[in-house]
Amino acid sequence: MRQKLIVYGIFISFAITSPAADAIQARSDKEQAQTVVSGTAVQSVVPVQSSSASSSSSSSSASSNSAFNPLGPNVMCSFLPRDFLECKDPIDHRYNLTAKTEKGYGCLRFGGSTYEDVEHTKVQCTVYTDIDCFGPRTFYRDGVPCVRYTDHYFVTTLIYSMLLGFLGMDRFCLGQTGTAVGKLLTMGGVGVWWIIDVILLITNNLLPEDGSNWNPYV
Ligand SMILES: *[C@@H]1O[C@H](CO)[C@@H](O)[C@H](O)[C@H]1NC(C)=O
Repeated sequence: MRQKLIVYGIFISFAITSPAADAIQARSDKEQAQTVVSGTAVQSVVPVQSSSASSSSSSSSASSNSAFNPLGPNVMCSFLPRDFLECKDPIDHRYNLTAKTEKGYGCLRFGGSTYEDVEHTKVQCTVYTDIDCFGPRTFYRDGVPCVRYTDHYFVTTLIYSMLLGFLGMDRFCLGQTGTAVGKLLTMGGVGVWWIIDVILLITNNLLPEDGSNWNPYV
């Protein structure tokens, strides 16, 4: 009798949990598909006219002779999500507008906190060798943010600023050596500069000198 009850219990718990698990699985699949679609739709793509693109892979050169068949097995290479591509870093023109105009793309400056603040540019991407797709395997992908991360952590810098601000440690860490020496020699502006810098940090007005963003992974 007792054994029978246990068997029923196991059966019932299976019956309850498995449809729920299926539903969760189906939902996460749908979400994944949605993110992939939105990821490719946002970025416009321009193929690169280069000799390496046409000779890069034997599998694609055979298919690129014929017209693209949307119902065929291969997607356009330029439609592939970022996971299948090896992309170069955005070019840094270091505030040189002539260099950027000459090149046609690249970053005038790096950094920024809000979307409108950050410059976006296109970068050259190449599909990984073993991925099969249709069309040129090297192309430009637009909408890449001009953002980079070096070893600057907001929380660490804030702690430095609060505890060692009178020695200018926060500004030394951010690479602002000139003002850091001044802060050290004046003992943090006799305490005033010390406090002001903490406020500047919190209000996002004291940033790394090299134009990099705060590294979010402490
Ligand atoms: C800006 O870029 C142009 C073209 O690359 C170069 O000739 C010029 O010397 C650069 N100017 C500065 C200030 O670096």
